Amino acid sequence: MSAVVPREKGDAGAAAERHWAMISITLIGIVVAVIAFTGIHWASMSPSGIEPIDPTRLHVAGEFVEQNLGAQVRADGTVVVRLIGQQYSFNPQCIVLPADTNITFRGTSADVVHGFLVTGSNANAMLVPGYITTFTARFSQLGDHLMPCHEFCGTGHAAMWAHVRIVPREEFDRLGIVHPGARCD
Ligand code: CUA
Repeated sequence: MSAVVPREKGDAGAAAERHWAMISITLIGIVVAVIAFTGIHWASMSPSGIEPIDPTRLHVAGEFVEQNLGAQVRADGTVVVRLIGQQYSFNPQCIVLPADTNITFRGTSADVVHGFLVTGSNANAMLVPGYITTFTARFSQLGDHLMPCHEFCGTGHAAMWAHVRIVPREEFDRLGIVHPGARCD
């Protein structure tokens, strides 16, 4: 039979096969080890700064009660905005903010994951139920900016948006926001 492989040639083929099998097993082993290490590492040492919150009690008590939503001027003159995303709107629907001021956003979701961004700026974040999202942004373009939800959140996703109205700092200060929760709607 001419199909019979000569003995030496067959041994060389089997050796090459074993060689590649070892390389493949080693690679799979490395990938499994990396997955196991990162999984255990994240489970045992979660990233710092996580602020959990009970999404079912946002309106009952705590930081995100209705009268606390919107812009607030803190004692040191900095501005903090609190907002909630829920299917399918933001609360508040319109936020007045001063230009050229560092503004801290604090947001969360009452139901599913939502996203929001302020057009014409680099403010862009996700609102995740159970957690508080915090970041600082600064706006220089005056006027109304659309703030749409950019994370698919259900059938009403496309209709979910709000506005951010940027006014000069003097005008913002004239609004006399001494109580929490200033908004333009
Ligand atoms: Cu909320 Cu999409």
